[in-house]
Amino acid sequence: MNLHARAEAASRIAREVGEMLLHHGKLKVRAKADNDFVTEMDVMSENMIREALLGQFPEDEFFGEESGGASISRGRWIVDPIDGTQSFMRGHHGYSISIAYEHDGELVIGCIYMPDNDELFLAIRGEGATMNGQPIHVSEIDDPHQAIAHLGYGHRVLEDRRRTMAILPGLFDRISDIRRFGSAAYALCCVACGRSEIFFELGLHIYDIAAGLVIVEEAGGKCTGWPGEDDCKVTGNVLITNGLVHGFMEEQLKG
Ligand code: IPD
Ligand code: CA
Repeated sequence: MNLHARAEAASRIAREVGEMLLHHGKLKVRAKADNDFVTEMDVMSENMIREALLGQFPEDEFFGEESGGASISRGRWIVDPIDGTQSFMRGHHGYSISIAYEHDGELVIGCIYMPDNDELFLAIRGEGATMNGQPIHVSEIDDPHQAIAHLGYGHRVLEDRRRTMAILPGLFDRISDIRRFGSAAYALCCVACGRSEIFFELGLHIYDIAAGLVIVEEAGGKCTGWPGEDDCKVTGNVLITNGLVHGFMEEQLKG
């Protein structure tokens, strides 16, 4: 298993797809479910990523948001071709391309590209995290009053949305600011590079978070499920922080 070659391949195809997304024409949009959309660019991007990665590493398996694919296997790519499809469709800047590689059940590579910012976040397990080749680290803010939180709420499950909203009144009084860009993958990168300290969301999928988890952990941050729950990779309920305000956030999420 050559992780460096895989990380390089992921970075290359992420940038290539990003370039294509920046110059797309009029979009054909289809609703997958209530309030859940897919454009032909999501499908085209995923196909490009699959062909590039499996073309170079035919022994690997592939699991993507749009086409599904292999569950746990020896070596598996986990891909969200456009994380933040709503933002992409509506012309907002907060979408990203997210590519992770899992080996023997462990996430070992995370690669997230933000086409609008031309920012490529990359981490290999045990080797630290970078943004455009420069090492990144979570912030050293330990006072919740100075912390910025990214918040996420799926567009699909009303109950999760309400549970998230119930946290906000208490949180507003105790931290500095709250943001929402519409891409969980990008929110994780923001914590990893110290732009914010906190991200939490309920009901995410493994392809939304796989790459970001490696990047945050390699940048020194902490990734868990919500208090009292199982691993976030299983539940999709994530609490991501710089580590220093994790205990504070656990208290907030307990309600
Ligand atoms: C969505 C984004 C969004 C989050 C949703 C996800 P998609 O992914 O990550 O930030 O709030 O829960 O589903 O559907 O745009 O790939
Ligand atoms: Ca997604």
